Amino acid sequence: MIYFDHAATTPVRPEVVAVIQDSLIEDYGNPSSTYALGRQTRQHIDQARRIFAASIKADPADIIITSCGSESNNTAIIPTALALKGKGKHLITSAAEHHAVLHPMHYLETLGFEVTYLPVDETGKVTVQSVVDAIREDTILVSLMYANNEVGSINPIAEIGALLAGKNILFHTDAVQAYGSEQIDVLQQHIDLLSVSAHKINGPKGIGFLYRKNSLHLPNFIHGGSQENDHRGGTENTPYIRGFAKAVALMEAERKESNRKKRELGAYFLNGLEKSGVPFECNGVYPEGVPHILNIWLPGMRSDKMLIQCDLKGIMLAAGSACTAGSLEPSHVLAAMYGKGNPRATESLRISFGPANTTDEVDTLIALLQSIHNKQYKNG
Ligand SMILES: Cc1ncc(COP(=O)(O)O)c(C=O)c1O
Repeated sequence: MIYFDHAATTPVRPEVVAVIQDSLIEDYGNPSSTYALGRQTRQHIDQARRIFAASIKADPADIIITSCGSESNNTAIIPTALALKGKGKHLITSAAEHHAVLHPMHYLETLGFEVTYLPVDETGKVTVQSVVDAIREDTILVSLMYANNEVGSINPIAEIGALLAGKNILFHTDAVQAYGSEQIDVLQQHIDLLSVSAHKINGPKGIGFLYRKNSLHLPNFIHGGSQENDHRGGTENTPYIRGFAKAVALMEAERKESNRKKRELGAYFLNGLEKSGVPFECNGVYPEGVPHILNIWLPGMRSDKMLIQCDLKGIMLAAGSACTAGSLEPSHVLAAMYGKGNPRATESLRISFGPANTTDEVDTLIALLQSIHNKQYKNG
């Protein structure tokens, strides 16, 4: 089995599993209980919150632990728009966002909000000028992803943050794909709301956090108990919160080396593919984007057919984002970058590396792509 789909999800580290296992046994107390077992569990959660906050240079009081990146995005967008509708009903996002941003935006449109979907160019990024041009008197929120999950491009977050801070417009960024490799500083980058998910950094699925400035006094998405400083009802998932915190600590300690390994593998792959004679082009701006994502166009080779061939050989990778892979829809990100109907949207592969991948695994993938290409060429 060769796993090249780390942008979809990552394996849970054994150290993280150990923390979760211990916590499942030790931390069964309800963190809201006042007796010793509850207090101990609460302390573990507070410690995890401090780790999450430090990782983006935030105040722990501004961290809301959620069930996933999708919940973080929904919480950042829907209640914020509803709370600010008296000020305006215009939102800005981009055509290349993850569905966990696009779909809340579509939902808000059904409630009478107007949304501008900024175009992305062939780099997969928005330009600061396009944000400037889209801003209206009634713009209340801008949501733009930090790094794209299909092509890895990184948006000019700090510049956009500074622009919006000057205009008193809230700024949300979906940092789910960037968090593992990029150094984030929410204050310096003028970010008001930021989404993260644990399963992209070798933590468990079903846990994430949202950075949201308390001083914004925004309403809740999940109403119930007074957990998360009264920002999100629901008894805390202590084992996963502790596992997530362990994954963050490991990620931070190993980030530099892990980024280096992924870049080396990417360069090795591109070099080997070029030597193999298979015609290809990179989609986006590799190696400028996040180091784990590489997206290539293989002219004339259908993504769905390549995925089946790879699967038969035990190689796991993707064509578009995981959520659309099953439906064989052309990638909305590549369509936004290169135009609707462009063959890149149906003839591309996303290879996403983890630090444990090897050059031997890369060689196996190149040999397979070469054999698919040669067979296709022979068959005309
Ligand atoms: C950019 C981006 N945003 C949001 C999500 C959703 O995260 P989760 O799976 O934790 O809901 C993903 C996951 O694929 C993603 O890549």
